[in-house]
Amino acid sequence: MRLRSIYSVAENDMLAKPIFNEHGQVLLNTGVKLTNNIIGRMKNKGVSFVYIDDDETSDIVVDEVLAEKTKQKSMQTIQKNFAEISNSMKLGKSIDMDKLSPSFSSVVKKVLEDIHQHDEAISMLTDAYCYDSYVFEHSLNVTIYSLALGKKYGLREQQLEELGLGAILHDIGKMAIPLEVLNKTEPLLDEEFQLIQEHAKIGFDMLRQSHTIPLLAAHCAFQHHERLDGSGYPRGIKGDDIHLYAKIIGIVDVFDAVTANRVYRKAKLPHEGLELLYSGVNTLFEKEMVEQFAKTIAIYPIGLEVKLSDGREGVVAKQNGELTSRPVIKVLYENGKKVTPYEVNLMKELNVTITSCEATVSQVS
Ligand SMILES: [Fe+2]
Repeated sequence: MRLRSIYSVAENDMLAKPIFNEHGQVLLNTGVKLTNNIIGRMKNKGVSFVYIDDDETSDIVVDEVLAEKTKQKSMQTIQKNFAEISNSMKLGKSIDMDKLSPSFSSVVKKVLEDIHQHDEAISMLTDAYCYDSYVFEHSLNVTIYSLALGKKYGLREQQLEELGLGAILHDIGKMAIPLEVLNKTEPLLDEEFQLIQEHAKIGFDMLRQSHTIPLLAAHCAFQHHERLDGSGYPRGIKGDDIHLYAKIIGIVDVFDAVTANRVYRKAKLPHEGLELLYSGVNTLFEKEMVEQFAKTIAIYPIGLEVKLSDGREGVVAKQNGELTSRPVIKVLYENGKKVTPYEVNLMKELNVTITSCEATVSQVS
């Protein structure tokens, strides 16, 4: 299978993986042949990337980080609980986080189990983002990335569970912000920006009242927009005053936000998202943390079409452990001419680099 931007798929391309909606239900199943109508609908739903099956790449398989069941169950739980919180807020009712926290904890534990079994660099490009459900999938993705990065930091099981709970609930305060402000396509007015910024404190206040949610998890909601140099919000705290968990969530939050399709712009590819993190090293983010994150994610996800510096073109076939910038490529073309496919391991051919990715061609925002 190969990975294609929704903007470069064609009619009759065959889906290699199912596409889910925010309830964890299958929207389109494996084997479905795309029509212009389906492609249009997927664009409207906010789907950024899809896996396509073809003869040239039929031997390339992608191992998802979450089992299908875990993903479906997690999405359902997050969606249901967030909806309950949002409704209570609208009605001015108090929110009983103690009642909801066991189901959030069980999602974190299940995600953690799957992460422990997945030792490959993580890629989550193909999730079906629906704009209205963005915050649910974002919360799940941030949990997955945070736990994987937390593992790199050698956190113990109980610490990972705390971090995971902080991650899944980091944006819970957004339930208090009107959707029309969250999804606004035009530039935000000052007062709207201020309103959005309040989600950190709102989330903190909501979570710290709970007896079953660790205070550290509440601080993740409070601190995940704080930045190393004090330029973040709500308090502008700096450096080591920001808790490790909040720093982890802060980094993966930015990464997931830019690699997801949003109402106001198209998704970036992982290597572009990572570039953005690197541009904030030592000012916004810790250098070591960005470097550890680069080892955690698939910078060039399996199935991505790439061009190499020596004129060869192909598809990413395998990851190379933590050297996520140098995967194994299945070469299909040499200087524009089709060749009998063979693999080149970029970890061994260090003079060859990836110069461009096909999915980016039509991704200009
Ligand atoms: Fe946030």
